[in-house]
Amino acid sequence: MAESTTTGERVLVTGANRGIGLEFVRQYAERGARVFAGCRNPDAAGFLSTLVSRRPGNVEVVQLDVTQRESIDAAINHIALDGDGSLDTLINNAGTSPRGEEFSNLQTAAMAAVLEVNAIAPLIVAQRAHRLLVHSSRPRIVNISSSMGSLTHKESGRHYSYCASKAALNMLTRAAAHDLAPEGMLMVALHPGWVQTDLGGSAADLTPTESVSDMLGVIDGLSASDSSRFLTRHGEEHPW
Ligand SMILES: NC(=O)c1ccc[n+]([C@@H]2O[C@H](COP(=O)([O-])OP(=O)(O)OC[C@H]3O[C@@H](n4cnc5c(N)ncnc54)[C@H](OP(=O)(O)O)[C@@H]3O)[C@@H](O)[C@H]2O)c1
Repeated sequence: MAESTTTGERVLVTGANRGIGLEFVRQYAERGARVFAGCRNPDAAGFLSTLVSRRPGNVEVVQLDVTQRESIDAAINHIALDGDGSLDTLINNAGTSPRGEEFSNLQTAAMAAVLEVNAIAPLIVAQRAHRLLVHSSRPRIVNISSSMGSLTHKESGRHYSYCASKAALNMLTRAAAHDLAPEGMLMVALHPGWVQTDLGGSAADLTPTESVSDMLGVIDGLSASDSSRFLTRHGEEHPW
């Protein structure tokens, strides 16, 4: 039976049609949040449609390609016109990881595309969503990073643009967190663990349910002193 109880909590998740993003939508909706599920192609987002039919008042699918300014602004405008127009939490989850990248075959355009999705787009989505976040009493921006962006942990080759993009995301998180702190807005980089998704592969340690459940615990407990930090899904400091 369809349920649609809402708690007033309002969340935007990018890359919400599969993997970790889809599970964020499911768990937020389950606890009564109003979740805007951003995805590039809503017509092909079958799992999201199922969530909408189960919890119609909780989940709304919004078209959102994080690399397209018009798409970002249309999604933000849509949320602004819904309810009180506020946003409590932005989960910058959309990400991409190219396969087969080696030193000998690196290409400028392909590398730039990864940096755009994984590092630049989260900051631009945050910038565009800022006008919604200012209406929240507990505004927070969560950038889904990766241990592969850790310089300390990088002790092998390959994965050039993915690792570089997540290291860049960590730096951008740190910079923006300082600029947003005077407004009481928190921004963190959060490593989800190694998760069974199209990106993580089937051999990964964690199900999306386990990873997102842990991350929600961390996100719910964030305070001002956590802003600008790079955290594990257990809320511990991740080595930069
Ligand atoms: N899985 C892991 O082990 C792991 C570990 C560390 C960090 N992470 C991070 O966790 C996040 C989610 O990863 P995942 O494992 O769930 O990967 P996934 O299953 O491959 O899902 C990636 C999501 O990002 C979306 N996306 C890609 N480019 C986009 C764009 N331009 N605009 C909007 N959406 C876009 C995809 O949409 P389409 O379906 O339209 O392509 C998809 O919804 C990523 O940031 C990833 O780097 C994952």
